[in-house]
Amino acid sequence: MKIKPSLPFPLVKEFLPKIKNGLVLDIGSGNGRNSIFLAQNNFKVESFDINKQNVAEIKKLASDLNLEINSKKSDVLKYKFKSQEYDLILAIQSLIWMRKNDFKKTVQKIKDSLKVDGIAIISGFTTKDRSYLNLKSIRNPIGKNTFYSKSEKRYWQFLDKQELKRYFGKNFKILYYKEKLIKEPGHKGITGYHNHGIAEIVIKKIKK
Ligand SMILES: C[S@@+](CC[C@H](N)C(=O)[O-])C[C@H]1O[C@@H](n2cnc3c(N)ncnc32)[C@H](O)[C@@H]1O
Repeated sequence: MKIKPSLPFPLVKEFLPKIKNGLVLDIGSGNGRNSIFLAQNNFKVESFDINKQNVAEIKKLASDLNLEINSKKSDVLKYKFKSQEYDLILAIQSLIWMRKNDFKKTVQKIKDSLKVDGIAIISGFTTKDRSYLNLKSIRNPIGKNTFYSKSEKRYWQFLDKQELKRYFGKNFKILYYKEKLIKEPGHKGITGYHNHGIAEIVIKKIKK
């Protein structure tokens, strides 16, 4: 059966005209909504996800749509980032389940891996997120805004007010930044309507 790709993340669509048509890295690509959209817009796409089912799904979608996407299974913490290689790097809601230090190191790798004039779009959960409030009520943090969930066997790190902006110094231009609360119907892992606190940023590397 043919699967239909989901709609891309709105900022990917919005910033498309500003991104040099070249090489993309989609970190934690999920079901491939952004990788597929970018391949359809003539970008060369490399993507990876820690979940092998997601990788299989992207491969199937790409083959059904006759698109070429270099997709593999990998953990971002083990991924060998290339230096100054990409015109666009996406990390959309995929750097949440890790310790804060690993998050910071990954953001640094994204910065190094972008070409000059390259763009990165990153989003994560904030301390307004329902999962933060929930974890805070049942667990002690193991570090700044970071928890370990025993039942899920994974870390969760949440972003403070303005935190995402602070990782980008003078060699980067912030093209867009927003913190928002969105109401979502139930989905995998959470039943019923709930709030997600999201921070999202679009940056451009202006200098090496
Ligand atoms: C909320 S989904 C978002 C997927 C996609 N970025 C999108 O915008 O639709 C988060 C994805 O990140 C992946 N992920 C989580 N931790 C990861 C890690 N350490 N390395 C690679 N992928 C990871 C998950 O498997 C999942 O597919």
